[in-house]
Amino acid sequence: MSWIVKKEENICQRCFWCENLINCPINFAESECFGCGACVLACPYEARKIVEVKREKKIEITVDGEKFEVFEKITVRKALETLGYKFRKIPNGISIPCEVGGCGCCGVEINGQIRPSCVTPIKAGMKIKTEPIEDFIPRRLVGGFMPHPVGGVGTPWYLKGEGYIEVALFTAGCNFRCPQCQNWTTTYRSREDIEHKVLTPKEAAERITQIRRKYKVDRMAISGGECTLNRRWLIEYLRELKRLNPDREARLHVDTNGSLLTEDYIDELIDAGMTDIGIDLKSLKTETFMIITGLQDRKLAEIYKETAWHAVKYIVDKYRDRVFVGIGIPYNRKLIYAEEIEMMGKEIYKIAPEIQVCVLDYRPEFRRRDIPYPEYWEMKEIYRILKNVGLKIVICQTRYGYIGP
Ligand code: FES
Repeated sequence: MSWIVKKEENICQRCFWCENLINCPINFAESECFGCGACVLACPYEARKIVEVKREKKIEITVDGEKFEVFEKITVRKALETLGYKFRKIPNGISIPCEVGGCGCCGVEINGQIRPSCVTPIKAGMKIKTEPIEDFIPRRLVGGFMPHPVGGVGTPWYLKGEGYIEVALFTAGCNFRCPQCQNWTTTYRSREDIEHKVLTPKEAAERITQIRRKYKVDRMAISGGECTLNRRWLIEYLRELKRLNPDREARLHVDTNGSLLTEDYIDELIDAGMTDIGIDLKSLKTETFMIITGLQDRKLAEIYKETAWHAVKYIVDKYRDRVFVGIGIPYNRKLIYAEEIEMMGKEIYKIAPEIQVCVLDYRPEFRRRDIPYPEYWEMKEIYRILKNVGLKIVICQTRYGYIGP
C-alpha cells in the first residue's frame, strides 16, 4: 500500500504555512508525492489529505548489506517497514515520534549520511544502514533563540517581573498532535530559515550561552515542540551547556510534556546538569488527554499521561532538594472541565502541596480557532478552585498578565 497527499483547493486558505514550515524534497509537486504526510500535519486548515494509491514499479535498494526490491515513490521509513523493520512511537532504537522531519529520532544512514527516514523519499540504488553509529553527532532543528520576560512552566513565580529573566531555544517536532497547539509553527517545522537551523548539541549550547551573556541572565531554557524526543541530542546539549556555564548561578531549565520521562531518563537529565523542569500535565482522564493532545491511540495516550504524572512524583520524591519543579495545566472550557482541574489539583496536592502550578489559558490557535479565548474571570475561578484544594503556589496565565501569589 502507498499514499500520496492531495490538496483540497476549496478548503485551502492560501496561508502557505505548509510551504513555509515543511522542507518538502519534491517542492509540493503532487505528481512526485511519496506520501510522507508532513504537510498534512502542518496544515492548520486540514486542506491536505492522505490518499491511498497503487504502485506498480519496484526499485532496488540495499539495506544493511542485503539487496531488496521495494515500491518506488514511498518514504525510506515505509520501505523499511515493508521489509519488516519496526518503527516505534516511543523512542527506543529507531522511532517516529514527530513524523515531520523535525526531531531526528528516525534517522538512518543513507548513502553515508544520517537522514530522517520519515520524510526522505526512497531512490533506486540507495544504500541504507539501520544500525546505530556509535560516534555519530546528533542533529536537531532548533530555533527561536531569544530572551524572555516571563519564562515557562518551570520558571519560579517570584522571578516573573520586570525585564528579561531567561533565554530560550525551541526544538521542532512533537509526539502530540494537539489541535489547539500553541506553538505549531515550531512544532511542525522541518524547513531551515534565518531563525531555525539544524544544529548539533554543541552548536546550540554555544549559541544560547552567547545570548545568555548578551542579556545577562542566569537561566537557559529549552522548550518546543517537544524537547525530550531526541534523548541523545538533549543530554549532550545539557552537558555542553553545563561545561560552558560552570558558574553556580547558571540554571538549566527544561520545559516538557513529560510523556517520555522515565526514571532513567530523569536521572540522566539531572546528571547532565538540568536544574529546573516544567512538566505539563494535560489532564487526569484519558478521554480529556486524547482531546487535548489529539492522540487517537488510547493505549499510547494512557502511557504518555501516566509517564508524565509519574515523572512529577519521581522528581519530587528523589530530587526535591536539587531541582525546581513546576507543573503546567491547560485550561479552556471547550477542552477540559473545571471539575477535572479540581481533581488534578487534589492529586497534585497529594504529591506536594507546595509545588508550583501554572495554569495556561489555551487560546484559539492552529486547528481550533473556534474555541473562545478564556476570560479573565474564568481564569480567576480556576485560580480559586486550585487554591481551595490547598495548593500553595498557583499562577494563572491570562491575556492581561498573571493571577498569582
Ligand atoms: S520522526 Fe522523523 S524526524 Fe522526527
